[in-house]
Amino acid sequence: MSWRGRGLEPHLPEYFRSRQTPRRTRCSRSLGLEQEENAQKLSLLTLDGKAGDGVARGRAQPVYSNANISRSQYKPGSTGRHLCSTEGTLLDMHSRPVIGVVFGTRPEAIKLAPVIFELRRSANFELLLISTAQHRQMLDQVLDIFGIMPDLDLDLMTRNQTLGGLTCRVLQSMDELLQQRPLDCLIVQGDTTTAFAAAVAAFYRKVPVAHIEAGLRTGDLLNPYPEEANRKLVSALARLHFAPTPLARANLLEAGADAGQIAVTGNTVVDALQVLVERGAADHPLPPGIPNDGRRLVLLTSHRRESWGEDLENICRAVADLVAAFEDIRVVYPVHMNPNVRRTVGALLEDIDRVHLTAPLDYFQFLSLLRRSHLVLTDSGGVQEEAPSFGKPVLVLRKVTERPEAALRGLSVIVGTSRERIVNEASRLLSCEAAFRAMSNAENPYGDGRASARIAESLARWWHGELPLLPPELEFAGTGELEPAMPNAGRAGFSDELERVAA
Ligand code: UD1
Ligand code: UDP
Repeated sequence: MSWRGRGLEPHLPEYFRSRQTPRRTRCSRSLGLEQEENAQKLSLLTLDGKAGDGVARGRAQPVYSNANISRSQYKPGSTGRHLCSTEGTLLDMHSRPVIGVVFGTRPEAIKLAPVIFELRRSANFELLLISTAQHRQMLDQVLDIFGIMPDLDLDLMTRNQTLGGLTCRVLQSMDELLQQRPLDCLIVQGDTTTAFAAAVAAFYRKVPVAHIEAGLRTGDLLNPYPEEANRKLVSALARLHFAPTPLARANLLEAGADAGQIAVTGNTVVDALQVLVERGAADHPLPPGIPNDGRRLVLLTSHRRESWGEDLENICRAVADLVAAFEDIRVVYPVHMNPNVRRTVGALLEDIDRVHLTAPLDYFQFLSLLRRSHLVLTDSGGVQEEAPSFGKPVLVLRKVTERPEAALRGLSVIVGTSRERIVNEASRLLSCEAAFRAMSNAENPYGDGRASARIAESLARWWHGELPLLPPELEFAGTGELEPAMPNAGRAGFSDELERVAA
């Protein structure tokens, strides 16, 4: 894979941002109508507040909150494609099945971007993009650089939100939304509160749930917390399971999922980063304030709920030990916006020489930093999956991981959160060239860049009643080899869409 850009400007995020597609009004998009006037004439949905208000802020009020569709206006037994006008005429609103795609956090948006682009390209389905905004700033950062505009923005984040509080808000909002706007399928991604609560809402409304990144398991309900529980609960409700790896499929089978309803696709994050890297999105200079003085960079991220408190303190102290022991390193830590994380990290690392705390980086800047780093210390799921594409050894700051594929191939070590263990393992890799090289050279075991095409193909097959979701020869085998049956698939939609955004 080439790291060189293809003639795009060096500041790719700004480049994309300045060329975003014009924002369409929520009325017309949420109804799938071509003309906003139609929406107004039918008075099916109205924005909460003055028309255009929400759009101007880049975010609409929940469309359904002031909707004047009553439940009785749906054709009984319809799949949601038929609505009545105010005059009582039955309208065929959509000729294609409607798939909702729901996301709330940074990693969900990154991993769903290539799926959205691929589904748009295949044009088999109409999409309804729903943001819960479980994350506000960190989600918008991702949506902005990809030029993705949700059709509905529920705007649910509150400061230092609780698991129960957010779950209630997502469940209630999604339930109301699905009442107003039934779907033929709802795609959820991963193991966040958004994914879990949206899956429950869909299940209650008998909307089939398609789960992307299904089947990851640690076997320990409290690690990671609450994600292990969330993904098991989503699996129990899902109709379609898109497992990233053969191991994830095995987990699903063990849990009793129907083999025909599982497709092994690879992880969609590999689709995203492959295309972006080829387009030079990982060629950015270092973030401001970090001297480019030849010192080796250690990239650190840590935000997991189960690590708050003592474990995160241990991680921070280990980092301070490392910069003291190795004069030739700098540690760069883009700190998550969760106040529980910021408090501890700020208190322990703010004034340490050669430790650089930054705000969350946009995805292009983050990939650029990852590419330039020597070693990665992380508890992030996504970063564990991305680092092997850049040949970067990873020390996993967790007791256990649901993504063991890299560790099984010797590309990462699960070091946990003991200060001593982190310092020992990192010191070994920073001092011993052979140990470092052994962990830094292999294919990415999490995907081959074609996951989104497999997902789009599976959805089309499912819609036409064909099972299994994918014939075995089209599945991701876990080797990263090209599969001639789908040459270049999975990247095309993403590439096309980036062209469109950049045009
Ligand atoms: C969530 C996910 C976690 C995922 C992580 C990705 C759950 C239970 N947790 O954890 O699985 O790994 O996202 O980053 O779904 N905040 C902001 N602005 C933002 C984002 C967060 O201010 O853009 C602050 C808010 O105070 C918010 C808090 O962080 O209340 C916690 O956000 P939340 O989504 O509940 O949990 P995360 O720790 O981000
Ligand atoms: N990421 C980013 N900016 C940052 C830190 C991470 O864009 O400052 C990206 C990273 O490349 C990965 C994703 O965010 O794709 C991981 O998100 P996070 O660690 O918040 O969640 P997790 O993957 O652990 O659920």
